[in-house]
Amino acid sequence: MAEPVQTPQASFPPRIFSGIQPSGGLTLGNYLGALKRFVEKQEEGIETIYCMVDMHAITVWQDPEKLRQQTREGAAAFIAAGIDPARSILFNQSQVTAHVELGWIFNCIARMGWMSRMTQFKDKAGKNSENVSLGLFAYPSLMAADILTYKATHVPVGEDQKQHLELCRDIAIKFNNDYGVNFFPVVEPVIEGAATRVMSLRDGTKKMSKSDPSDQSRINLTDDADTIAKKIRKAKTDPEPLPDTLDGLKDRPEARNLVNIYAALAGHTPEQVICDYAGAQFGTFKPALADLAVAKLEPITLEMNRLMQDPAEIDRILGEGAARADAIARPIVDQVYDIIGMIRSRR
Ligand code: TYM
Repeated sequence: MAEPVQTPQASFPPRIFSGIQPSGGLTLGNYLGALKRFVEKQEEGIETIYCMVDMHAITVWQDPEKLRQQTREGAAAFIAAGIDPARSILFNQSQVTAHVELGWIFNCIARMGWMSRMTQFKDKAGKNSENVSLGLFAYPSLMAADILTYKATHVPVGEDQKQHLELCRDIAIKFNNDYGVNFFPVVEPVIEGAATRVMSLRDGTKKMSKSDPSDQSRINLTDDADTIAKKIRKAKTDPEPLPDTLDGLKDRPEARNLVNIYAALAGHTPEQVICDYAGAQFGTFKPALADLAVAKLEPITLEMNRLMQDPAEIDRILGEGAARADAIARPIVDQVYDIIGMIRSRR
């Protein structure tokens, strides 16, 4: 094995990559924890690459027609939320084969012990771990490949992806050390803002998720204004009014969640929200939150619906994005083959 080398990060130009699974409808959690922040990064003028990770989605069985539909719907959500396909690269993962090629190589870099510690695998597999796909176990190694096939340096995600990004860092460091190169950057997770972990509307200790059996637990980006308002009005809370400091929300997960959602939607800090609503009952706060949520989400839902009228145009955008993504990823993966000693003589 080659001598370990230090990876000087300064040598990698900033580039952002992130992805969303098209494994169901998108939720307010996806919007606040990911999509909204993807748009902010695009507006900061950094190179941004965003992906519908369809190869990740099939780690659990997907109905083929629904998968196509959900991939298009996800892409429509990106665009409706403000991603401009001319300024950001927007594509679906399976159209750029570099991801799975590097994914296999990383399966040979990542250690079983590292993978076995992934809490999301344990949560998803539950008691059924003998019966889930091998792909579900290897999932985080493909995720590292998604990022590193572009030598991305920054990855905006919600809190739940933190451990996967730590694994991505370990894989980059081990690859660099094993081959005595300074080839891959050690990525920075970008987990920021008031809504890095949006919680269920029915249980403030559980993450808001598309896989929760109760539709009341989440706001879907496809929900209409009435449904959004109803779900917020029915959200679980406690009988106390809102406190006048954030500390007062410490043992009130549901109240804390609604304050965080308000802050993220309004572009304020949770402190500002507490300041504005100190002493307010939920009878006052919930309607204000419902109005704000509808005002912010309804235009996105309407635009998504409009874009979904023309699936061929969405497919065209994804195809064009894939060609641009491939132009970056291909040479990087070709260099990896050289580094690891593969003969490349095919004409
Ligand atoms: P996924 O599809 O589960 O979620 C997409 C993004 O939404 C964020 N998110 C949330 N943020 C705040 N509160 C919530 N309740 C909430 N639910 C979801 C997630 O943190 C994520 O940022 N493994 C990834 C997809 C992926 C990826 C990548 C991400 C594949 N390759 C490379 C970044 C880079 C996933 O399953 O996300």
